[in-house]
Amino acid sequence: MYKTFSLLFGLLSIVSGLQRGVVSTPNAPAAIGPYSQAITLSFTSGETLVQAAGQIGLDPATGSLVEGGIKEETTRAMENIKAIMTAAGATMDEIVECTVLMTDLDDYAALNEIYANYFDEDNAPARAAFQVVKLPANATTEIKCSAAIEN
Ligand SMILES: *[C@@H]1O[C@H](CO)[C@@H](O)[C@H](O)[C@H]1NC(C)=O
Repeated sequence: MYKTFSLLFGLLSIVSGLQRGVVSTPNAPAAIGPYSQAITLSFTSGETLVQAAGQIGLDPATGSLVEGGIKEETTRAMENIKAIMTAAGATMDEIVECTVLMTDLDDYAALNEIYANYFDEDNAPARAAFQVVKLPANATTEIKCSAAIEN
């Protein structure tokens, strides 16, 4: 029974041809835990989905959180996202959704000021924003985005 299922799955995966890829770039911080910078899912239709890990304001050169607070951290996090998307073959305008986490929702306006520079106003990704108690490395924000690449 199990063999039949695994054979079926094997055949299905040939038909669907979903290709999983691991994205790794030195232009964004190395993972600080058991995760990849991003995973790409490529379909035989030619489209690719990019699921990127959440980014905090870690400087890839030093591995440390940038100093200065919300605006500096948002800038660095967005640059990290951009580097990962570039490595995955996606542009910023192919990002379809982001989740923004902040340790203080009063940072909302300051974060938006920086965040808005990375997207066209009339094509900005869907988004959800949350205040959370704590983030890795004592960051004030973490931003996570996903992209869809149309071939
Ligand atoms: C986070 O901040 C706390 C309190 O200031 C400090 O004790 C801790 O070492 C910091 N952790 C990191 C990873 O920087």
